[in-house]
Amino acid sequence: MKFPYSEKVLEHFRHPRNVGKIENPDGKSIEGSPACGDMVAVYLKVDQESQTIEDVKFESYGCASNIATGSVITELAKGKSLEDAKNITWKQASEELGGLPPIKAHCSVLAVEGLRSAIRDYEERHGLVTEKEPTTMEVVRRRLKHVMNPLTGLDVIRTDLVLKTSVEDGVVRVVVDLPSDHQFASAIKGDIVEKLEALWDVKRVEIVFTE
Ligand code: FES
Repeated sequence: MKFPYSEKVLEHFRHPRNVGKIENPDGKSIEGSPACGDMVAVYLKVDQESQTIEDVKFESYGCASNIATGSVITELAKGKSLEDAKNITWKQASEELGGLPPIKAHCSVLAVEGLRSAIRDYEERHGLVTEKEPTTMEVVRRRLKHVMNPLTGLDVIRTDLVLKTSVEDGVVRVVVDLPSDHQFASAIKGDIVEKLEALWDVKRVEIVFTE
């Protein structure tokens, strides 16, 4: 049987570079794939002066292709300016790996999206986002698609864990379908607040539990 992965994919999968977490990162993201439900987290340290990526690490809860892509894109991104790192594409990553089976394209997209979101998170936290889209319910829901529901491994929107959202005068309210004393309640609350408070026009985030 012919193995579907290139030697390079296997090598990066067996010895992934830049795996782990950065404590107090300047930017971070968690991305989930709608195609398979897997997840990747990306952490950044940014040199503020030169706006270059000093360090980048990732944690993957995905398959071999995802791990190999995470390994390759973090190698590509390290030392690059934020602008250049944003332009790294999944195609580039896949070429770098000697190709991925087409059915695995979403795995490298997931890793690349993770890197871009971590850069975006850094930019938002440092007031560097120039196109200032007003925060609407649509924006809130889009953001919440990046918060995982630990009960299922899929995001809180897809799994209907978020019952309602509203935005008024910079105050975002999110109603979560869990009792407040649920074992995951405070973790989910923390994740939601973190995702929304970085938005430029959000003053406060309120989480309401159903009981
Ligand atoms: Fe889910 Fe590859 S199958 S990341």
